[in-house]
Amino acid sequence: MLYIGIDLGTSACKFLLVDEKGRVLNTVTEEYPLSFPHSGWSEQDPADWWRACLSGIPALLQGFDAAQVAGIGAGGQMHGLVALDKKDAVLRPAILWNDGRTANEVEYLNSHVGKQVLSARTANIAFAGFTAPKLLWMQKKEPELFEKIEKIMLPKDYIVYRLTGVHATDFSDASGTLLLDVKNRCWSSEMLSECGLHHHQLPQLFESWQPVGTLLPEIAAQLGLPQSTTVCAGAGDNAAAAVGTGTVGNGHCNISLGTSGTIFISSSQFRVDPHNALHAFAHADGGWHLMGCMLSAASCNSWWQDRIIQNSDYSAEQQKILPEKLGLNHVYFLPYLMGERSPINDTDARGAFLGMTMNTDRADMTQAVLEGVAFAIRDSFEVAKSLGISIPRSSICGGGSKSSLWKKILSNVLGIPLDTVATEQGPGYGAAMLAMVACGQFASVTEACGELVQVKATVEPEPLLTQRYEQRYAQFQKIYPACRELFPQLLKQEGE
Ligand code: XUL
Repeated sequence: MLYIGIDLGTSACKFLLVDEKGRVLNTVTEEYPLSFPHSGWSEQDPADWWRACLSGIPALLQGFDAAQVAGIGAGGQMHGLVALDKKDAVLRPAILWNDGRTANEVEYLNSHVGKQVLSARTANIAFAGFTAPKLLWMQKKEPELFEKIEKIMLPKDYIVYRLTGVHATDFSDASGTLLLDVKNRCWSSEMLSECGLHHHQLPQLFESWQPVGTLLPEIAAQLGLPQSTTVCAGAGDNAAAAVGTGTVGNGHCNISLGTSGTIFISSSQFRVDPHNALHAFAHADGGWHLMGCMLSAASCNSWWQDRIIQNSDYSAEQQKILPEKLGLNHVYFLPYLMGERSPINDTDARGAFLGMTMNTDRADMTQAVLEGVAFAIRDSFEVAKSLGISIPRSSICGGGSKSSLWKKILSNVLGIPLDTVATEQGPGYGAAMLAMVACGQFASVTEACGELVQVKATVEPEPLLTQRYEQRYAQFQKIYPACRELFPQLLKQEGE
């Protein structure tokens, strides 16, 4: 038996072909554009995602027996608003997870509806990237399109819909809409009416591993797959990545250094951060998780490398950072290039370098970028610790985790060992595992993790470096509070 895992990312869609032993037989990546039509906006055309599937899946199957494919699972970028009309045509480009246009709607939800009410209904408060504020924005700014909405869904749900014709979503991804009663795993009627929606406009809810259907006949023919191929509900990318690294059950942690940076703590019990700095979402294993999400993580490094210093050889650039300089950098970087979500929830925040002197060189600044992201992950880590959660170690995944230097910095900034699993393929691997459970290959997501996930390597923190980074982090923590008042003024001057 073969399984396909799809990771619908922000810059590309990655496809994995996996056999029943969990071996990755082939991978294909299809890129697509991301548009920023106004400062702070972030959109993508769902047609591009589907085009990626139509070319990526046949390419993935080349040289393999497609008749052996039993199941498909998708993990995807969370929170994106995909709105369909009566004929299931896409009404406007999807408004993505890192879009910051909804500051007014977030303010309305958090102040007028009130954080306590929102948290009681959904276990979360409003953040700019969440789906509910985007619906309020559309209602106000694009009323004629809003009126035409027949169905809303999340990005990977659009792929599942095109494959099967079923409007479905899963609990992990639905948690990020601010429309789900996360504790009771059902849509919140109060939140739907808050956003001018009716139940029929929402997709049907599934557990991530549940089958939602099989391939539509014309799609099966087009992709060269058996029509009987089972498509499961899939998961938000962070929950799917957590499955892929074995972060299931109680009290395990996974850190993802992708376009976004997340710290994901699995829990078999429902729990809420009383200050809602961490998201309280459903997990793809049937339980829940707490998550801190920073909006720009590996994307800070690619911004620095590709756009600023214009060197696409990331590892050559990182080799210029002298080991003896770790923990002693005098330059600091605030990684808020798209505003920030966790834990500061500030759409106006922006990036900053601080502390340069005439002695500062390019390597110091590259180092500061890597360290600034690590410090910002530590901010969410500290929130988790303040809730009494013990995080003795974590797995790590995502593009940034390919850098051994970045892993070393992060391990020492957090003061914990970081494990890399043998099949580090991000959300796509977890999505393939969900498809295996949907097809009966494993009885549960936990069983699949037990059979398929193994730690391959661990980076251990070093006492001297941890101590040095402790001091650096104490300095870093002072920078944002000192700049906070300035950011909105800077934006006003720029006419944003
Ligand atoms: C999580 C979040 C991001 C996206 C990135 O809340 O917004 O991690 O899912 O793909």
